[in-house]
Amino acid sequence: MNVYDSDRMADLLAPMGYEVTQAADGADVIILNTCHIREKAAEKVYSELGRLAPLKTAATAGDAAPLIAVAGCVAQAEGQQILDRAPYVDLVFGPQTYHRLPEMVESALRTGKRIVDTDFPVEDKFDFLLEEHSSGDVSRFLTIQEGCDRFCTFCVVPYTRGAEQSRSAQSIAADVKAMVADGAREVTLLGQNVNAWHGEAPSGGEWWLGRLIRYLAEIEGLDRIRYTTSHPSDMDDELITAHGDVPQLMPFLHLPVQSGSDKILASMNRRHNAADYRRIIDQLRYHRPDIALSSDFIVGFPGEDDADFAKTLGLVSEIGFAQSYSFKYSPRPGTPAADHGQQVDEAVKNERLAGLQQLLRAQQEGFLQAQLGTTTDILFEGGGKRSGQIMGRSPFMHPVHVEAPDRLVGSVQPVRIRECFANSLRGDVQTVSTPPSTERSEPATEDVYA
Ligand code: 5AD
Ligand code: SF4
Repeated sequence: MNVYDSDRMADLLAPMGYEVTQAADGADVIILNTCHIREKAAEKVYSELGRLAPLKTAATAGDAAPLIAVAGCVAQAEGQQILDRAPYVDLVFGPQTYHRLPEMVESALRTGKRIVDTDFPVEDKFDFLLEEHSSGDVSRFLTIQEGCDRFCTFCVVPYTRGAEQSRSAQSIAADVKAMVADGAREVTLLGQNVNAWHGEAPSGGEWWLGRLIRYLAEIEGLDRIRYTTSHPSDMDDELITAHGDVPQLMPFLHLPVQSGSDKILASMNRRHNAADYRRIIDQLRYHRPDIALSSDFIVGFPGEDDADFAKTLGLVSEIGFAQSYSFKYSPRPGTPAADHGQQVDEAVKNERLAGLQQLLRAQQEGFLQAQLGTTTDILFEGGGKRSGQIMGRSPFMHPVHVEAPDRLVGSVQPVRIRECFANSLRGDVQTVSTPPSTERSEPATEDVYA
């Protein structure tokens, strides 16, 4: 989401003549787009700001000092405190107001006044964000939903990103069509709680995510659809069955469970228990037997004892995850769990995290190894690590490198997996099924790289 937001900020500033640069040194505007979800986020921002300060103080009269801005959820949470602690910062704005960036930059440059904008505005940010469709990228992100109303007791998102907001089906479809016309073949629908999406249907009324996915799947040229991140309690039947009915919907789902203990899940206010999660996975596997699963886990949540943690390990062993992210609980100021009396000792957290990660790593490796010798459809996205190579992704998100010509970028090809590395695969294109370029006079099917 932050990568997506940063791209939109660049789009908003482009009409003012700004271009993206990779180095802070020499930039006219420096924006730190921040995440507040875990671990000492604010401290990291202050230390990064400390590193940028000399750029401001070193500026001479002929060489204007850069504007320094802090955006995103740390900005939302800290607000004015950032200006107080870092006197060289000019702008502080949250995720809900970055569509006002051109006005803020203009005003800061004109008046020299420092600005804090952490409103939750009444206007819809999406009405102000013009999607940039000209990147030419094969795989794109599109925010369809923002904010969260679930209030898990460990999480800052409902406070920093605000209440749930969904875009209309029509505006989403218009963006996806424009992306496809610009070369996109895959779109990942984004939202803090994306499967809570419920937006206006094209002919009035309301749709939920499963219906939206079916609608987007009708767009000619869109080969792949993904969505992230989802809450188990928002996996309704229409969405689950879409995994069986919609071939464009990729068989990979990130569905965080956080813990395998019902006691901890209740204390987290997750509003589902371990049995609910197992049932959802069973249904998904019934409709899409090859679906690969990914999850987030928190260890050392307040009150978690050895038996609770054992239940998490048990659930992981039972379900089997192709990929996962696991974290030590870190108290976020202002969230209910931060004030919980039974905080878990840091050493215990470390030990549990190591144990869980060992199990998850073994599952991830096993899943990757199981791809060896299989033939899988790969969507090629661009150049590989070495010259003569191109890189694509499997339906299960694995990066796959092959020796093949660049003209296959933007097409889906069957690839036989030959080698397996820590996080990626290497293989050979079997047959070129639909040459993407009509200018060539090759037959529609050729045995070229087998
Ligand atoms: N401590 C540890 N992990 C957290 N996450 C969110 N908040 C916290 C926290 N306070 C994790 C959850 C979530 C992921 C994005 O980050 O697992 O799913
Ligand atoms: Fe945070 Fe996700 Fe829970 Fe919403 S559903 S409060 S974003 S963890």
